[in-house]
Amino acid sequence: MTYSPTATSAWNSLQQQAESASAERITDFFTENPNRTNEMSVECGQLHLDFSKNLVSDQTWQALLALANQSPLETLRAAMFSGETINTTENRAVLHAALRAEIGDQKVAAAVEESDQRVSLVKQQLSRVKLVSEKIRSGDWVGSTGKAITDVINIGIGGSDLGPKLACSALQEFAHPNINLHFISNVDGAEILSTLKKLDPETTLVAVASKTFTTQETLLNAKTALNWFEQQLDLKDAQTTSHFVGLTASRENALAYGIPNEQILEFAEWVGGRYSLWSSIGLSIAISIGYDRFEEMLDGAREMDIHFQSAPAEKNMPVIMALLGIWYNNFLNAQSIAVIPYCERLLLLPSYLQQLDMESNGKSTTADGQPVDYDTGAILWGQTGTNGQHAFFQLLHQGTRLAPVDFIALAKDNMSNEEHHRVLLGNMLAQSSALMCGQKAPAGEPHRYYPGNKPSNVLLLKELSPKNFGSLIALYEHKVFVQGCIWNINSFDQWGVELGKKMANQLLADNSDSSAPLDASTQALFAYIESCQ
Ligand code: F6P
Repeated sequence: MTYSPTATSAWNSLQQQAESASAERITDFFTENPNRTNEMSVECGQLHLDFSKNLVSDQTWQALLALANQSPLETLRAAMFSGETINTTENRAVLHAALRAEIGDQKVAAAVEESDQRVSLVKQQLSRVKLVSEKIRSGDWVGSTGKAITDVINIGIGGSDLGPKLACSALQEFAHPNINLHFISNVDGAEILSTLKKLDPETTLVAVASKTFTTQETLLNAKTALNWFEQQLDLKDAQTTSHFVGLTASRENALAYGIPNEQILEFAEWVGGRYSLWSSIGLSIAISIGYDRFEEMLDGAREMDIHFQSAPAEKNMPVIMALLGIWYNNFLNAQSIAVIPYCERLLLLPSYLQQLDMESNGKSTTADGQPVDYDTGAILWGQTGTNGQHAFFQLLHQGTRLAPVDFIALAKDNMSNEEHHRVLLGNMLAQSSALMCGQKAPAGEPHRYYPGNKPSNVLLLKELSPKNFGSLIALYEHKVFVQGCIWNINSFDQWGVELGKKMANQLLADNSDSSAPLDASTQALFAYIESCQ
């Protein structure tokens, strides 16, 4: 039978409850149930989530859990982990979890053998990441003039950039002291040209990171880097030298580009681009923090995978976060979710999560090919605290829109000191509390009214270790997956990005296809730009 979330009894019940939800106060829930914080807190490894400050009564919470239960979540979760082709529009399995699995992890009898074979393949592919990263870190990998590598440029975009860039920034506490990582993604030439200007080609290595090895931006940036090496070092075919490695699921395309076979670090096609930091796309992470710590990161993700597969829904961190998001998105008309890390090293987390969440769940066709008649993925945005407090928090406290917040912080920070960290955490806790509690306006000063009743989660990591970072990213991966299951959409394709790519190619080709002429505005803008050259 075809599933639709809106046809479930839980959806119906939630709709009814939503009508009275705005009259409820989160603070009253705490008065009614003094044990609320305890009941609405969960742990996974060194991650602690307090979700008690949500506009969710006990009754609503039960209905949300029922919604998960009435959805195909359980079946699809088993299907994903056991390697079934759940990405139907691309005819692919979805197995990023296999990148951090161990032999024997798979418990579905029919899938054990295949799973163990996959894990062996992954281990083999990751052993190349270990080998290459260790050679670079130790100075044994030398450029064409025999000098050790001091600078690594990861050229990639989307999933081939955001994950490694975030991980290297988040885990800078563990960074190699003498090797600098650079990330070039945008096709804006100013980015790569200004980076190259600062570097010495003799000691620079380029990692061309692209699942497909066909992405326009990546190939143009790689070409610019290639020309730079050739001109500066008087080289021919620089892509064949030790200044280039390729990270890809298409060995064939990387070979055709000229990268030598032994300098290609491959990963499997069943790893989605936005889930690829755990694969050889993560080479830059292993170079920066060392392979052992890269493995710790994988281990943290695996811990979350196991939790996601085994914890009951009411104690399951990804399921809980997904259900709360659905409550606000589909029943209380919130159009966005804010992610605010109180940690400057996690500055890039919101932009990483934008791809993970919005490319996965920004869909309007169901898995059965029907148009959806309910909202799907929310707009995800964010910035670090306390900086955000001095920018957009005004809207969170007194604006007219509902924007639930995920506050993320480190209980302990080895890179800070006691005084700073106390102030940072104090601010985070105060914001989460102020959003919920609000405050009456003093007489005659209506502008000082804080309505409160604004929901937030607080997610604490004991510390920002590679392991905890891995758990954090896997948590959001699974949250997005759960929402996709409930919305009955394919979270693993990204057809929405194709049209713009095609039109850019058409526009740049200069041989306009007369059967698909550009619209008048675009033609005029193009002509204006040309007249300025
Ligand atoms: O934007 C579309 C997309 O396919 C992303 O999903 C992907 O991460 C990115 O482009 C880069 O693709 P590739 O790794 O193949 O260069």
